[in-house]
Amino acid sequence: MDILVIGAGYVGLVTSTCLAEMGHHVICLDINPNKIARLNQGHIPIYEPGLEEMLKRNMAAKRLSFSTDYSYGVTRSLLCFIAVDTPLGENGQANLNYVLRAAEMVAEQMDGYKVIINKSTVPVGTAELVKETMSATLAKNGKTIAFDVVSNPEFLKEGDAINDFMKPDRVIIGVENDRVAALMREAYSPFMLSHERLMIMDVASAEMTKYAANVMLASRISLMNELARLCEHSGADIDRVRKGIGADSRIGYKFLYAGVGFGGSCLPKDLNALRFQAESWGIETPLLDAIERVNQTQKLHLLNKIISYYASPHHLKDKVFGILGLAFKPNTDDMREAPSLVLIKELLHHGAKVQLYDPVAMANAKLLLPDNPAICWCEDEVSVAEGADAIILMTEWKQFRFLDCELVKKSMHGKAFFDGRNQYNPDKMAAIGFDYFSIGRLPYFSTSQSYVH
Ligand SMILES: NC(=O)c1ccc[n+]([C@@H]2O[C@H](COP(=O)([O-])OP(=O)(O)OC[C@H]3O[C@@H](n4cnc5c(N)ncnc54)[C@H](O)[C@@H]3O)[C@@H](O)[C@H]2O)c1
Repeated sequence: MDILVIGAGYVGLVTSTCLAEMGHHVICLDINPNKIARLNQGHIPIYEPGLEEMLKRNMAAKRLSFSTDYSYGVTRSLLCFIAVDTPLGENGQANLNYVLRAAEMVAEQMDGYKVIINKSTVPVGTAELVKETMSATLAKNGKTIAFDVVSNPEFLKEGDAINDFMKPDRVIIGVENDRVAALMREAYSPFMLSHERLMIMDVASAEMTKYAANVMLASRISLMNELARLCEHSGADIDRVRKGIGADSRIGYKFLYAGVGFGGSCLPKDLNALRFQAESWGIETPLLDAIERVNQTQKLHLLNKIISYYASPHHLKDKVFGILGLAFKPNTDDMREAPSLVLIKELLHHGAKVQLYDPVAMANAKLLLPDNPAICWCEDEVSVAEGADAIILMTEWKQFRFLDCELVKKSMHGKAFFDGRNQYNPDKMAAIGFDYFSIGRLPYFSTSQSYVH
């Protein structure tokens, strides 16, 4: 089928590439001419495992091309996916300007029946807004052309996005009629060969499903973080508790980790957008509000441990902290809402120096952190430790699992290790000589002094 994907970000690039991989002819369009020029030269603007090779293969096979030209993209395509950003607006509502602008641009160029498919995460009612925007644009241009609007929210996970798109758990399709449902079935049929994963439903339910999934996931994280704090207080170990509850098939092991709070471009934004929408409907959401509150405090939980260790926030001045991992999770360069940003800004605010390393997210982190002589950008995990008073692990990249902790310890000036992702064995860390702090587990000391509650 001939397909246009609007937006060449994490979702748009993965969607276009995977649709092309399955034999569709895809044009991926973005308003950012620089991004499109670089894509046409084979430069991929994001880090996503497996994407580059698949994208280049499909460009070479002429199934995938990139453009900034709506006229070119719309006239050649039957299906128009909208995969543009929907950032949080000023009050916490989803900002739909980019989605509605894309809808308007499609309507401007339409020369026949089109299906507009909303892949961006949008509040219930957005398909109606898209329809109204397009109808108004067509009317303004004196055109009467039929079109359908579909809700097809995306569930891919950054870091494993290709796999998620190629082998989805489910594909949610919200439609208003059978004709467009059949077209969507055809578009996704190559992904359904092993078994049916397409769920056709009404548009409002499809739009709500995306928010429901994300707040469900966010609630698991906040609940585990709250339980972790109870574990710390009571002497229980959150990792043992996690294993104990995860064995219950009603609970399961996935997405059941305590840590430094959730970040990224989706969970915080979608949680807040749903809270905002509920408020606009006059409906209270105490549970959703609590998920957000717990997350905000969890982002400072490690900082509070650091302050306790050094007995006062004033004692952070001129201390050197080596920070391992900056991205909001492993296997991505996405720094949006990364908990590391909150921690780093707090440490700088207290006069500390930071030595930072992330395998792929440093370039994006540089755009979001101030130009400050107290920040040192390091080449690898060991140079982060040189002369450091403490190490802080923020992102559980696989390469940090086998960190040479003895070498790290030798390179350091101090001996504190704050593990925000429970990656290491506390006994071993204490044996190496660290004062080791993690989440939801008791601190382990190389000697028995220094930790002040
Ligand atoms: N990133 C994820 O993991 C993920 C997962 C599922 C759903 N989503 C949702 O998908 C949507 C896109 O997210 P993303 O992370 O890919 O965003 P992104 O910021 O990485 O990319 C969005 C792209 O859209 C382009 N754009 C904006 N307005 C445009 C317009 N009118 N015409 C053409 N291009 C335009 C921007 O230039 C940008 O390149 C959001 O609603 C997000 O919530 C994201």
